[in-house]
Amino acid sequence: MIIARTLAELNEARNALGPVGFVPTMGALHEGHLALVDAAKAGGLPVAASIFVNPTQFGPKEDLARYPRDEAGDLAKLEGAGCALVWLPGVHVMYPPHGTTMIHVNGPATHWEGASRPGHFAGVATVVAKLFGQMRPESAYFGEKDWQQIQVVRRMVADLHLPVRIVPVPTRREPSGLALSSRNAYLTPEEHRAAPALHAALLHAAREIVAGKEVAATLHHARHEVAQAGLVPDYIALVHAETLEPISGLIRPARLIAAAKLGHVRLLDNIPVG
Ligand code: PAJ
Repeated sequence: MIIARTLAELNEARNALGPVGFVPTMGALHEGHLALVDAAKAGGLPVAASIFVNPTQFGPKEDLARYPRDEAGDLAKLEGAGCALVWLPGVHVMYPPHGTTMIHVNGPATHWEGASRPGHFAGVATVVAKLFGQMRPESAYFGEKDWQQIQVVRRMVADLHLPVRIVPVPTRREPSGLALSSRNAYLTPEEHRAAPALHAALLHAAREIVAGKEVAATLHHARHEVAQAGLVPDYIALVHAETLEPISGLIRPARLIAAAKLGHVRLLDNIPVG
């Protein structure tokens, strides 16, 4: 496995490997990230991953400073998963001191995470565009766990005519239903037992909506279920799966999306409906 820490090292590796399938990450890798590596391997090209904790997608009061980091562990996992190349840029490579360009995606970035975390998706879109420019991948793999992120990246790729294929990969979960996340490491054992209530509420709501129950009442009930379990719901919404606009009845493609606070941890989840 080649480890590149400078643009010169990355270019040399890219020239040697030819077209790659790309898995961008912020590290603290778990089975969810490795599912992306597996999907990329199945795509048939050498797999390149990146690890970069991107400061511009964290708000001033968020967990940038204490975001989990484990470079040695991550490299061992990527090597074990069969990655050919890992890109580990420093913050000054990604954000040169005189750089001024940011990418603001409207549409799918407007609501939900975009509203709760101002500036978050501008940070994501900007770093993903930079990573695509550096890596020039044939395809790039993103987890459905962050459903809105995928739609934002897809919108940006279409709008900027970037020559990369975006491949979504299903969410990896614990047997309890809890979606794997680097931030789950912050949960206390008690919180960890409560956390699967978010996914359970989504499953329940999806069944009700498909069975024809009124959407607003169903979402209200889902928020209540989540709160009963000790979580503080931020939003639970039925949305058009691509535009992320809220919908009041079942049109397709539809997605149930949710975010809730549990202690200091923000949990995200989403599932298809119908
Ligand atoms: P990060 O949170 O490290 O996630 C990297 C990728 O792993 C994302 O595409 C995310 O959706 C995916 N992922 C996380 N948990 C998953 C799970 N349980 N199942 C399947 N996939 C999962 O998302 C980011 O980093 C950043 O925003 C990034 C795109 C790297 C830009 O900085």
